[in-house]
Amino acid sequence: MATTSSKKENVRIMFNSIAKRYDFLNHFLSLGIDRMWRKKLVKLLVAHNPLTVLDVATGTADLAIEVSKQSKAVITGIDIAEEMIEIGKRKIIELHLENQIKLQVADSENIPFATGTFDAAIVAFGVRNFETLDKGLNEMNRVLKHGGMIAVLEFSRPRHFPVKNLYMFYFRFILPSLGRLISGDKGAYTYLPESVKQFPDGKAFVNHLAKTGFSQTTEKRLSFGIATIYTGIKT
Ligand SMILES: C[S@@+](CC[C@H](N)C(=O)[O-])C[C@H]1O[C@@H](n2cnc3c(N)ncnc32)[C@H](O)[C@@H]1O
Repeated sequence: MATTSSKKENVRIMFNSIAKRYDFLNHFLSLGIDRMWRKKLVKLLVAHNPLTVLDVATGTADLAIEVSKQSKAVITGIDIAEEMIEIGKRKIIELHLENQIKLQVADSENIPFATGTFDAAIVAFGVRNFETLDKGLNEMNRVLKHGGMIAVLEFSRPRHFPVKNLYMFYFRFILPSLGRLISGDKGAYTYLPESVKQFPDGKAFVNHLAKTGFSQTTEKRLSFGIATIYTGIKT
């Protein structure tokens, strides 16, 4: 596939290299809270009754699988990292969900679907990795039908003592060492706190949604603001 830019290529290589340990690391390093966060996003999503859902940056398909547990929607998952997709596909076969979830290698910033294809577009811990945030959000907007919903789950920065301080300590010192030990990848878990530090959260992220064609935006902070779910509607 034509992923020429360097950030994108680095992100792809990094996720391919940690793919086999990704699920374990995710649940271990978040103490299992990531599962609860995905469930919350899907709860908000199913209230909108989508029949067709695009899961962007699907990785090993955990969010897509959660959608299948809570609804009958047909889900398409896309990701640039082939190894992540491979693991996702294996999970889908084990769960006999092949008729409900399809995965394919594709770039969120150049989505290979026609304008107005989906009722909803969702993404968990993916937008932070986009090369150009607005390009990815514009693409998600394009492939939605009018009235379609976007739901984004992403790390955010807690604002208040003591959670803010504990979080900073965990993110800066504990997580990179544990991540390195378990994943064997030096960069992956240094990249995580760095990318969270630089990424727009709260109102700043909502502004990106508005700029890329979404209205009725909402922002729901989770676990003292460690993560946030943003939603919006394509006008
Ligand atoms: C932290 S993982 C999240 C995976 C999954 N959504 C989850 O909740 O566990 C981020 C994923 O984003 C993917 N990704 C990054 N940039 C992408 C892009 N431009 N297009 C598609 N996928 C991308 C990576 O390959 C990786 O699998």
